[in-house]
Amino acid sequence: MEDLKNIKILAEKEINSARNSEEIKQIFQKYLGKNGEVTRVLRSLKNLDENKKRSIGKLANQIKQELEQKIEIRKKEIGAEIGKNKTNKKIDVSFPGHKLPTGHLHPITKVKREVEDIFERLGFSVVEGPEVESEWYNFDALNIPANHPARDMWDTFWLRQNESKVQNSKSKANTKSQRLLLRTHTSPVQIRYMEKNNPPLRIIAPGRAFRYEATDASHEINFYHVEGLMVDKEISAANLKAIMEKFFEMFFKKSVKIRIRPSFFPFTEPSFEIDIRCLVCGGKGCSVCSQGGWLEIAGAGMVHPQVFKSAGLNPKEWQGFAFGMGLDRLTMMKYKIKDIRLLFKGDLRFLEQF
Ligand code: PHE
Repeated sequence: MEDLKNIKILAEKEINSARNSEEIKQIFQKYLGKNGEVTRVLRSLKNLDENKKRSIGKLANQIKQELEQKIEIRKKEIGAEIGKNKTNKKIDVSFPGHKLPTGHLHPITKVKREVEDIFERLGFSVVEGPEVESEWYNFDALNIPANHPARDMWDTFWLRQNESKVQNSKSKANTKSQRLLLRTHTSPVQIRYMEKNNPPLRIIAPGRAFRYEATDASHEINFYHVEGLMVDKEISAANLKAIMEKFFEMFFKKSVKIRIRPSFFPFTEPSFEIDIRCLVCGGKGCSVCSQGGWLEIAGAGMVHPQVFKSAGLNPKEWQGFAFGMGLDRLTMMKYKIKDIRLLFKGDLRFLEQF
């Protein structure tokens, strides 16, 4: 019995002064291992008489358990101390750092910047206008009066306002309607710019436009346009054609065939539709160009006299061309994307390909 108690006292001392897991392991072997001191006592019980067997056996088992517990506790303490030492260690500044994931520009933004860059090199300034626009700038000033059937082409989202306080274009002939809507095109920027700047002028106005319509592979309720406007004393459709050809050549980095067809817009006279040879199939016909070989890329025309008047300029003095080009269409052509909706979904599986 006395022996056992001494073993216990010694073992406890050693456990408390153990400094690492190696020492703990050795202490475990020394007392509780196969030939450990406590183990040996337990093994010798069978040679004792019943009485002693019971009392010594009980004590030996108790000591075994206590020592096991103490060893476990000490192990944890040492672990914590080792952990503490670790954080005190010096930082290795030469160790390669973690790479932080970085984002990148949306394909439309990339194309927008490229378009801006090209037109700047052609002498155009880049300007902007508001996405929430008044009825006056979006329609009336562009020669699209209320109730004119042309408004059907630009069905949009109107903003809820207190109707009684807001002038609309039906109320009085000479008032400018302040009713608000999400602009259906970037053409209002033409008026806003000409009100404040005298010709000669050359601008582009890239930005978002909205339409109230059903979506499909080539239609979205919002999309990106870039408006173009060039005004001077003698500007003709030949200037428009030259600028467009030069732009497409610089944008696609090869000469691109264009086609100009007659069309109608209330704010240009004459009006055109500009098509480019489909770059996906080279003009043979494919799903992107609906088998036609040509792709409608912009609306354009010579600025209507009424538009000059709305902006306070004399139409007898100035001439100009304007165009509205689909930035999403350009993006789709450049990257061969077949569905416009992909551009606005925010799906990373798609976006991370650019
Ligand atoms: N604003 C027209 C559209 O939304 C495009 C256009 C712009 C046409 C300028 C002619 C001149 O379709």
